[in-house]
Amino acid sequence: MAKETKGYFTESDSVNVVNARMGPDTDPRLAKIMEVIVGKLHEAVKEIEPTQDEWMQAILYLTRTGHTSDDWRQEYILLSDVLGVSMLVDAINSRRPTGASENTVLGPFHIADAPEMSMGEDICLDGKGEPMFVHGRILDTEGNPLEGVKIDVWQANDEGFYDVQQKGIQPDFNLRGVFRTGSDGKYFFKAIKPRYYPIPADGPVGDLLTALGREPYRPAHFHYIITKEGFDKLTTHIFDPDDQYIQTDAVFGVKESLMAEFKPIDDKDKAQAIGFDGLYYDVEHDFVMARL
Ligand code: BEZ
Ligand code: FE
Repeated sequence: MAKETKGYFTESDSVNVVNARMGPDTDPRLAKIMEVIVGKLHEAVKEIEPTQDEWMQAILYLTRTGHTSDDWRQEYILLSDVLGVSMLVDAINSRRPTGASENTVLGPFHIADAPEMSMGEDICLDGKGEPMFVHGRILDTEGNPLEGVKIDVWQANDEGFYDVQQKGIQPDFNLRGVFRTGSDGKYFFKAIKPRYYPIPADGPVGDLLTALGREPYRPAHFHYIITKEGFDKLTTHIFDPDDQYIQTDAVFGVKESLMAEFKPIDDKDKAQAIGFDGLYYDVEHDFVMARL
């Protein structure tokens, strides 16, 4: 049917009428995106048949989501996270060869200018929490150690808070550090055992989770951004498989391949060799980078 015949809106022809309004010079990618979005949106509205009140509630929800966002808080990203869309976009954009480590969500608590540290240093600046030794290797997909890899790590403290959430309570840059591998590809640093924590739940996303009977918690994890020229950037975590929220991560970030046992170690000699006094936790995990 010619475009001109689609001028009047009808319930049955709604998608074609709207999409036919796009001009001939519309960027082809945008045209494709809008065709799909209008198509799926109208399909959803036709299936749900919202009342006018329900539609207004949806509009006001999105308005509130915008008003809750500022330079520090991005409620739309959080909404995308809890709907599984962030993980889906990431999965589509980081398909990797077999054996390469998998990505997971970045989250809002990364900061770009964390201090560079020497391998083995302690990222815990306030001495709070149960000591933990974190170590492993960075390898390519053939199993060779990679030198000169930048490893940017950050974690929540033993109460489930990042330093940026507790300014004036935790020291700046607490539980963050940037390390670089040597020729053996090894990384190791001292830290503390992280705790599970709730994502920011005092806004529209928290309200949605409550309405859906969902928990806001993320299981305990360490964050990593691992980069080396010529390799796919790895934005990932390692997770405590024994955490009570491991099956119900609010943002769907858990992957089988990213579990790493947090082992309690009661061995004075080992503790002393690392620089701890007594009981500590140990976690070992190798990351495998894919060549670009
Ligand atoms: C995080 O792990 O830091 C995080 C990820 C997604 C949403 C909120 C927090
Ligand atoms: Fe986190």
